Amino acid sequence: MAQITLGTLIRKKLFAPLAHRLVLALETPILIEDLAGEPLIATDGAIEGVRYPVIVQGDTIGWVQGNEKAELLASLLAYHSEREVERKNLGSETLHKYKEITLLYDMADKIPACMERSEIIAILTEQIRQAIRFSGLSVILLDKESGKLEVAASLGNEYALGTVIEPVGIMASVWASGKGEIINDVHADQRFVQRPYRVSSLMCAPLKSKESTVGIIEISSAEPTVYAAEDLKLFSTLASQAAVQMENSVLYLELKNAFYTMVYTLAETIEKRDPYTGNHTKRVMEYSLAVGRTIGMSEDELIRLELAAVLHDIGKIGVRDSVLLKQGKLTDDEFHQIMQHPELGGQILSRIPQLQDIIPGVVQHHERFDGKGYPEGMAGEQINLAARIIAIADTFDAMTTDRPYRRGFSFEEAFEEVRRNSGTQFDPKIVDAFFETDVMEAFFRASANLKLRAAPR
Ligand SMILES: [Fe+2]
Repeated sequence: MAQITLGTLIRKKLFAPLAHRLVLALETPILIEDLAGEPLIATDGAIEGVRYPVIVQGDTIGWVQGNEKAELLASLLAYHSEREVERKNLGSETLHKYKEITLLYDMADKIPACMERSEIIAILTEQIRQAIRFSGLSVILLDKESGKLEVAASLGNEYALGTVIEPVGIMASVWASGKGEIINDVHADQRFVQRPYRVSSLMCAPLKSKESTVGIIEISSAEPTVYAAEDLKLFSTLASQAAVQMENSVLYLELKNAFYTMVYTLAETIEKRDPYTGNHTKRVMEYSLAVGRTIGMSEDELIRLELAAVLHDIGKIGVRDSVLLKQGKLTDDEFHQIMQHPELGGQILSRIPQLQDIIPGVVQHHERFDGKGYPEGMAGEQINLAARIIAIADTFDAMTTDRPYRRGFSFEEAFEEVRRNSGTQFDPKIVDAFFETDVMEAFFRASANLKLRAAPR
């Protein structure tokens, strides 16, 4: 079933007057009907001749009746309907991806905090220290991949971080039962296994969230101590809270990775359309990040720069293949269409609330330092910093890439060209930073991993 009706096409605001003028220009009686036989356009006078079907993707979506000119008109309508379906499909495919991205980011946003495991353990230790007396503390966590228990924190005892241990004695019982225990006189407990450090009393609890047990925590005292049931209750509650936070942080990282993967997939859809760009996005990203590090950008600024660099040409999704992939000289109109891509990119990203910060980097990447760029003709430091960096990275890569109709510049020639355009096309400060940057290292990094992929953060 074709995803368009002839009525939808004919009633389109831009197409309707054209269709009516076309029918009049044919100077012959014509009747255009939808699939059900409802007239859409009819000239005066008796309509005779053949009823030609308008066929789109193998389905008839309407009819044109008249002489041989009607057959021509039916083909033309079919052609336009096909284009309309293609345009719609491209739009809905892209929209679908935005929706997925927004959903992923929203979910990640709802998880309150993304803390490193070590931060969570540090907070837990401090909370316990404030409430309960102990001289030794160990946190053992389950490594999901290996299924083994590893030492994640160790205070006042001899466990080395990262040591894989097999739970024995009391720890093994707690791990197996999932219930916390107090042993006030360890030497009287048959399960106790001698330790290389002094221990008289201990408390051990599972790090248990609703879903699963992620590890065990144990505190011990070298001197005989009486731990009470309330101590165990508090200790177990704090341990459970930490376990939930640990699970959340894993989930958060997974979502964040999924988000990055989606963003990169979106960028790859552009690359796939133009096979000659061969990994352009990845190189622009690596060059931009390398320059960003040279000028001392913060981690947050680097993340935004990376996303802007990856998505800088996303607006090309709205430029037709016949223009985007044209190998010869572009007409003024075609050039005008290409020049729309930074703003189109901005419009696309404006639908993703979490990507608002990177829009200036995308929209302004074809602005020039001397104000002769597009779309706004902004100048100097008025232009977003990420956009000024991406401008150099993008141009440098375009110059050094072979195209079917011309050989790319050597790196030396391209460096010379960047230098020559300092202060006109490019920000001289960023040009200086570019020359201080190890561009070749960034190039090899981009080449080493040809597929764009999410960088876990
Ligand atoms: Fe561009």
